[in-house]
Amino acid sequence: MTQTALTLSPDADGIATAARLLATGALVSFPTETVYGLGADARRGEAVAAIYAAKGRPSFNPLIVHCADTRTARSYVQWSDLAERLARAFWPGPLTLVLPLGGDHGLSSLVTAGLDTVALRVPKHACAQDLLKAFGGPLAAPSANPSGRISATTAAHVMAGLGDRIAAVVDDGPCPVGLESTIVSLAGETPTLLRAGGLAPEEIEVVLGTPLAVQAGSEIIAPGQLASHYAPRARVRLNAQHALEGEVLLGFGPGACDLNLSPMGDLTEAAARLFDHLHRLDATGAPIAVRPIPNTGLGLAINDRLARAAAPRA
Ligand code: TXA
Ligand code: MG
Repeated sequence: MTQTALTLSPDADGIATAARLLATGALVSFPTETVYGLGADARRGEAVAAIYAAKGRPSFNPLIVHCADTRTARSYVQWSDLAERLARAFWPGPLTLVLPLGGDHGLSSLVTAGLDTVALRVPKHACAQDLLKAFGGPLAAPSANPSGRISATTAAHVMAGLGDRIAAVVDDGPCPVGLESTIVSLAGETPTLLRAGGLAPEEIEVVLGTPLAVQAGSEIIAPGQLASHYAPRARVRLNAQHALEGEVLLGFGPGACDLNLSPMGDLTEAAARLFDHLHRLDATGAPIAVRPIPNTGLGLAINDRLARAAAPRA
């Protein structure tokens, strides 16, 4: 018989229940400022394995470890001056740093998928902070969607995708940023952008004082880069001015359409609505046409997600 996940409120009782469930090795979804995460104790292999199972995620895909603060994050890795600068500027917030693992880190090797680096993030969202403090340990948390599907930005998305496979979801409304965190690797010679996301690369470059390298070649470092990773069921057509017969139109800026990412043409608003609008249009069953979106600031990450949604399926 399939069980349905508990829906918890983000008050003291709900957070305490969520922390207790996590301590038993169960899976609990919780909101962050970017997207809903599917959390489990990052030190327990079986709890982390349950994440891969629930998501149907390929096992070579490593997970982000969420920490309450920079001090906790530092304890798992070989920290550096650059890491310190970026952490001071952007943590807590929508930035994930990939760093070489330290000695005695205690994290499950399933979290890192056997790599000698780990992705760390200190989320800003009050509910994520409360839960990390109540739980008192690191939480592995990929986005709370079945693998290859659209990320969840509301508790309803989580329930629709994973409701029969997890213990609980903490419902604290829609995620304010609406796009996953920006991932920067500090594990190599040069700071490298692995995934565009909720923090604009330009802001990171100001703090670094140098341009970010962009990952070259075909080697998959962040499998979020797999061509058809963010796939709605429907076919997606980009840079469309109008819907063709039978299509639904996802708008940006002024003009008639079925759903609009931002009638005012505001990229931050568009990012926050992206996954929700894709979920809703996908539910119509019709192919989705998308108006052009400028390729600057958060537009880079939005277009990156849309290009994946439109990529031919493997
Ligand atoms: O905003 C976010 O980052 C959300 C929320 C829940 O925090 N989490 C998220 O996690 O998007 P996930 O698992 O869906 O994406 C993690 C990405 C993957 O593409 C993974 O390959 C990459 O991070 N990653 C994790 N560890 C890595 C590592 N050691 N080296 C390179 N990439 C890594
Ligand atoms: Mg994801």
